Amino acid sequence: MHQTVFVDLAERSYDVEIGPDLLAQAGVRIKPLLHRPRVAVLTDETVAGLHLDALRAGLAAAGVEMTALALPPGEATKSWPQFERAVEWLLAEKVERRDVVVAFGGGVIGDLAGFAAAVLRRGVRFVQIPTSLLAQVDSSVGGKTGINAPQGKNLIGAFHQPSLVLADTSVLGTLTARDFLAGYGEVVKYGLLGDAEFFEWLERNGPALAGGDMAARVQAVTRSVQMKADIVARDETEQGDRALLNLGHTFCHALEAATGYSDRLLHGEGVAIGCALAFELSARLGLCSQEDPSRVRAHLRAMGMKTDLADIPGDLPGAEALVDLMAQDKKVVDGQLRFILARGIGQAFVTSDVPRDAVLSVLEDALATC
Ligand code: GLY
Repeated sequence: MHQTVFVDLAERSYDVEIGPDLLAQAGVRIKPLLHRPRVAVLTDETVAGLHLDALRAGLAAAGVEMTALALPPGEATKSWPQFERAVEWLLAEKVERRDVVVAFGGGVIGDLAGFAAAVLRRGVRFVQIPTSLLAQVDSSVGGKTGINAPQGKNLIGAFHQPSLVLADTSVLGTLTARDFLAGYGEVVKYGLLGDAEFFEWLERNGPALAGGDMAARVQAVTRSVQMKADIVARDETEQGDRALLNLGHTFCHALEAATGYSDRLLHGEGVAIGCALAFELSARLGLCSQEDPSRVRAHLRAMGMKTDLADIPGDLPGAEALVDLMAQDKKVVDGQLRFILARGIGQAFVTSDVPRDAVLSVLEDALATC
């Protein structure tokens, strides 16, 4: 059932291994990268409690020792204080230039550990072992690393590609249903942005996948990673096509900011709602048929996911305030809002040519149902 996706980036190329029970094979898979049989693992307390013993055993099976630092779980960890703690710990553990750091956790740990590896001794290699669905299909692949600033998310960071990604799909079994479905928002995004057949496949197989069907999980993660790998290989540093991966994200970032990056809205939930809004906006602009946003929303609903603004608990600001929050996104270019719109399911494109009034009217109508 194991699959391998190759991320083709010349001398920075690497494999993403996907399948069940990969933690047990971590040692044999990582050992070829090592000059000495020892790795430093950055993780969070939740993941450590659930899976660190399995990782330790998997490494030890190939004679690889590990030392680990568990940081607090949650987005607040992507900050200077925890970053400083991680880097100083890696230095205290005498991690050398030729050693390998392991990021073992969800997107927060992957981003922070990757950034720590990028700057430690001017750059050491790192391996991603993503434990959330969101990290397996998105953040562990492609080399975006970093932490948040008081001014916004992910504003401090570096491109630093991992040397290997091990996506153990068995580990997804310990996610809460909410976290799993939030990650599924990013899976749906791939179908919507570039593969209508994959979206159809998700319409048919999404419920089984969410219910624990391992073959379906492996297939969904593999297709998602393959799509991301293809886009990243074309545009590693987001000069063009890579922005397609931000389908739904302009709306999502405004909603995350409006809800204070809190538990009211998880990132993947915001992406799902954002995708539905991006398709609604595309339909209003005459780019795609009105059936497309309805179909997107129907699938999200069938999966029991947040789909509309009304699904976000608590009050939201008005449409004007939401558009102002969009304008603070770091992906704004020359003051122009950039949107990913679609000519149909699987046919997304990047544009800065979106009238503010059209965005406002989509949001006003969406807020009216709250
Ligand atoms: N998560 C979007 C990207 O990696 O470009």
